[in-house]
Amino acid sequence: MESALAGKNIVLGVTGSIACYKALDLASKLAQAGANVETMLSYGATQFVTPLAFRSLTHRSVVTDTFDADSEHSVEHVALARWADIVVIAPATVHCIAKLAAGLADDPLTTTVIATAAPLLVAPAMDANMYDHPATRENVARLRSRGVFLAGPAPGRLASGLMGMGRLVEPADLLGHIAAALGKDGDLAGRRVIVSAGGTQEAIDPVRVITNHSSGRMGFAVAEAARDRGADVVLVTAPTALPPLPLVRVVPVRSAQDMCDAVLAETPAADALIMAAAVADYRPAMAAEQKIKKTAADEMSIDLEKTTDILATARGNFIRVGFSAESENLEANAADKVRRKELDLIVANDITEEGSGFGVDTNRVVLIDRELQAERLPLLSKYEVGHRILDRVSALLRGRVTN
Ligand code: CTP
Repeated sequence: MESALAGKNIVLGVTGSIACYKALDLASKLAQAGANVETMLSYGATQFVTPLAFRSLTHRSVVTDTFDADSEHSVEHVALARWADIVVIAPATVHCIAKLAAGLADDPLTTTVIATAAPLLVAPAMDANMYDHPATRENVARLRSRGVFLAGPAPGRLASGLMGMGRLVEPADLLGHIAAALGKDGDLAGRRVIVSAGGTQEAIDPVRVITNHSSGRMGFAVAEAARDRGADVVLVTAPTALPPLPLVRVVPVRSAQDMCDAVLAETPAADALIMAAAVADYRPAMAAEQKIKKTAADEMSIDLEKTTDILATARGNFIRVGFSAESENLEANAADKVRRKELDLIVANDITEEGSGFGVDTNRVVLIDRELQAERLPLLSKYEVGHRILDRVSALLRGRVTN
């Protein structure tokens, strides 16, 4: 599975806000992710963007507000309501939100919403004062209480020139909200999954650190996959260049010790700990308080001391998954870690292999379980590898309950 959205049937409702131009980007991204997108434009939306633009991006029909009894779309709302896996309204204007809250059905989009059993995700866009109005607050609260998913609005500069809450959530992030809404009742629903990511940074002085080549991609992919199966995800991450994952709680850390403290604080409530981070095994014994100056000597050395092994230390009633990045003797080294750290599963990868390891979106891994049984997976996207790991975690959790 390249994307949680592949093959999903999505009704995209677009209502009249200047943020409509971003709905085109959203439609494009959804189509690229393999979703089937049927667009419904309100009359207001058609004043900003054209049906043709959406049709060109989605290669599917676009329904507008013009009521025409002869049109083949006249019963479309009922058919689309049944077809949809999810209805997404982005942008949703203040007026649209009020109509939804009141249960009105005076156009194809609101009629579809009333007729569907599929989940509804609403992404508001409006001026900050409109979002702040008591009527809007009440309407949003009513939608939430009915189980409607809300994405945003986000803070920032608004079309009015004001700063405030009211921006449409960025299309790339809306994809995450949609995937999470679709996966809400997945096999990890109600489970708390802690994932660590990135390469820790061990201070030498206020300017320099010892770190490694980890990009954080593998850990982020596991966190994303867990979110898309309904888990409540905590991502304990060392600094990375990756964008935040919507609906994943992030605990930012720097050093191995920070990561250790954060992981141990989270594990009492955890169902699974997946340590994808590249944690430093050694750190400078003493970080200099001031920047170390160059001297006349040709050599200098830094004394190192061992860090705490987080995975070996974190124990309790939760599934423990480790990663093992190796440059030789992959399976033997990984199996040794399963034994030493008493793991439920280890994910071993050979960092010297093409398409695996640091900074790429793919990985070829071997899963080795407690009984040292190895499952050798083909080259997959890191997101897919995340799902394969979570298939095992999910099975272990089910086993834990019935035992
Ligand atoms: N790990 C950890 N705490 C550390 C070092 C590693 O929790 N201080 C975790 C990693 O996140 C990974 C697993 O342990 O999930 C294996 O890490 P790795 O560094 O490959 O293994 P080590 O046990 O440190 O062995 P070696 O460095 O000799 O390969």
